[in-house]
Amino acid sequence: MDNIIYWYSGTGNSLSAARRLSAYLHGETVLLPFTALLYGHEQPSASVYGFVFPLYGAEAPWPVLKAIKQLKLPENAYTFAAATCSERGGVSLDDLNNFMMDHGMKLSYGRRIDMPGNCLPS
Ligand SMILES: Cc1cc2nc3c(=O)[nH]c(=O)nc-3n(C[C@H](O)[C@H](O)[C@H](O)COP(=O)(O)O)c2cc1C
Repeated sequence: MDNIIYWYSGTGNSLSAARRLSAYLHGETVLLPFTALLYGHEQPSASVYGFVFPLYGAEAPWPVLKAIKQLKLPENAYTFAAATCSERGGVSLDDLNNFMMDHGMKLSYGRRIDMPGNCLPS
């Protein structure tokens, strides 16, 4: 496997972003829900791992963090994160990198993507 994009999405923004990003990657790409990791599905091996998810309270949602913690990445794997949000991303990607470093991984690249907001109160 060349690339795996793990995605998590409440209302479809992040799934749409994951699908569009997959079209830009070279080689074979599979999209897998983060929930597959939470339910203990087999972890295919890849060279590139993408994480696409929405920001809740300027952070990655807890199921995403819990799933990333369970990942077993090959050494030298390239990792990227795309956090969809509605213009209030804060330092979410630095926080994600710190979280990953606490668990023996690191983020190679991260970017926020502003999309329509789905937080009804705000
Ligand atoms: C509970 C909740 C909290 C949110 N918090 C933020 C936030 O802190 N910053 C921000 O920019 N967007 C925030 N949003 C907006 C979402 O991150 C944004 O709309 C995202 O693209 C939704 O992706 P999805 O359709 O894949 O769930 C929040 C949305 C929800 C439902």
